[in-house]
Amino acid sequence: MNSVKLLSQSELKELREFLKKNCGIDILDYRENFLSRRFLVRANSLGFDDLSSYLNFIKKDEKEREFAKKRLFIPTTEFFRNRDVFEKIKEILSNDKTLKKKRFVTLSSPCSSGEEPLSLAMMLSSLFDDFIVIAMDRNLSILKEIKNKKLSQKLISPLYKNEIKSYLKEVGNAFSFKEEVLNKILFSCCDLLQTIPAKGIDLVLIRNFFIYLKEEAQMKCVSNLKKCLKKGSLMVLGKVERIKLNKDEWDVVDINSRIYRFKGSKE
Ligand SMILES: C[S@@+](CC[C@H](N)C(=O)[O-])C[C@H]1O[C@@H](n2cnc3c(N)ncnc32)[C@H](O)[C@@H]1O
Repeated sequence: MNSVKLLSQSELKELREFLKKNCGIDILDYRENFLSRRFLVRANSLGFDDLSSYLNFIKKDEKEREFAKKRLFIPTTEFFRNRDVFEKIKEILSNDKTLKKKRFVTLSSPCSSGEEPLSLAMMLSSLFDDFIVIAMDRNLSILKEIKNKKLSQKLISPLYKNEIKSYLKEVGNAFSFKEEVLNKILFSCCDLLQTIPAKGIDLVLIRNFFIYLKEEAQMKCVSNLKKCLKKGSLMVLGKVERIKLNKDEWDVVDINSRIYRFKGSKE
């Protein structure tokens, strides 16, 4: 990552108070580097030299407040992001014959605009008859949009032709997912740093989230997650993420794809 000018402590304080009051977002758990990158880059792209001028602007501009809320905290995602990771997960699951006998429960969180849980549902369709994907994010407005979303050609460009044929239908000049895929997904609004309302998870994808968090918040999230996971379940982090994990609780399954196996809680 390129080095980025950091926000000063007073700017951080100003930003925190502003976002809490106006956008309902508490940035206390986010790394300062991430916040500086997001907000200073946005401020500069709009022609502001410093954060205070940008905050003065955003106070008056409702559209920019919506943009900050939706876009600055919802970085982009895509279908089969790092496809090699999905292929690795598929290989691991295919080799475990015990899994076919029961309902396979998965969690994709945070799921952002839905591309990750939908990719997971497509992949699992070729492996299991009985499975469910719980898709969680704290942003309720994006969760509400996912099921009725019309997908452009550009959005579905990471999908292979056979995936489009099997799982999507054409709606005018766009696409949407077939009911049999959407029915496998259960959407849930939740803050991962509070309680996570799920149990008996066999596989969790928690990708490109820890990277934004301070270490204490990362630890809190892992601790919450452990309460939802089955012994022997898999956890997948983002490709560039590394967090502190207790070796007595976690085995590395594939370090390149950041896949870990949960051995049970020692807490
Ligand atoms: C980069 S996206 C991750 C999308 C997907 N996992 C991927 O890798 O493509 C980050 C998401 O984290 C969500 N988020 C941020 N803080 C959260 C929290 N405390 N609890 C739940 N979701 C959160 C945001 O709303 C956003 O949708």
